[in-house]
Amino acid sequence: MAKLSPSILSADFADLGKDVKIVSEAGAQLIHVDVMDGHFVPNISIGVPVVKSLKKYSDAFLDVHLMITDPDKYADAFIKAGADLVNFHVESNADPKALLEHIRAQGVKTGITIKPQTAAEAVFEYLPLCDLVLVMSVEPGFGGQSFMPDSLPKVAALRAEIDRLGLDCEIEIDGGITLETAPLAIEAGVDILVAGTAVFGAPDVPARVKEFLAL
Ligand code: DX5
Ligand code: ZN
Repeated sequence: MAKLSPSILSADFADLGKDVKIVSEAGAQLIHVDVMDGHFVPNISIGVPVVKSLKKYSDAFLDVHLMITDPDKYADAFIKAGADLVNFHVESNADPKALLEHIRAQGVKTGITIKPQTAAEAVFEYLPLCDLVLVMSVEPGFGGQSFMPDSLPKVAALRAEIDRLGLDCEIEIDGGITLETAPLAIEAGVDILVAGTAVFGAPDVPARVKEFLAL
C-alpha cells in the first residue's frame, strides 16, 4: 500500500487551506508543494510565503519539491517557513551532498529528484543521505501531462539499490499518476504517489484520495 502526496499545483489557490484540509482528512499522508522559478522549469508557481501560511493553517506533512536553479540559496527559507521535507533536483546547480547534509543537520527530511532524461544511477551515491528519492514521470513544469512509462525501470533500479544498501529511503513518483498508472508504479517499487490532476480534478476529491490509498 503506497502513501499519497496530493500536488497542490492542481488545487484551487484561492481556497488552498480548504483543499489541503479535505485531502488530509481523507487520509493523504503528505502534501506535495511544487515550487517553480521560471528558470529551471518554464513555469512559475508558488514559494516561501505559501509554505509559511500552510504550516500555520494545518499540521499536514509538507513535501516541498523545489524545481529551481539554485536550491542551495533558498533551502533555508523553506525550512524556516515549515517545510517537513526539502526535495531538490540533482540537475540543479547545488552540490547534492553538501545540500543534503545541510538540510539534514536542521532536522528536516531530505529528497533528491531526477528528471525523465536522468539515469537512476546519477543519484546512487547520494541515497544514504536521502529520506526520499523522487522519479519524475513527466518533464517537470506543468500538471496534467501523460505518464512516461520509461520511468518504471528507473524506479525498479532505485528499489534494488536501496534494498541492497539496506537504506530507509522512500521512492516517490510524480507526473501523470492516475488510478490506472499508479498500480504500475507500485509494482515497480514506489512508496509514495504524487497526484495533482487525478486528485483535485476528481468529482469527489475525498473519495478519490481513498481510492488511491486502497491501491
Ligand atoms: C510537475 C509537478 C507535479 C505536478 C503533477 O512539474 O512536479 O507535481 O503537479 O501533476 P499531475 O498529477 O497532474 O501530473
Ligand atoms: Zn512535483
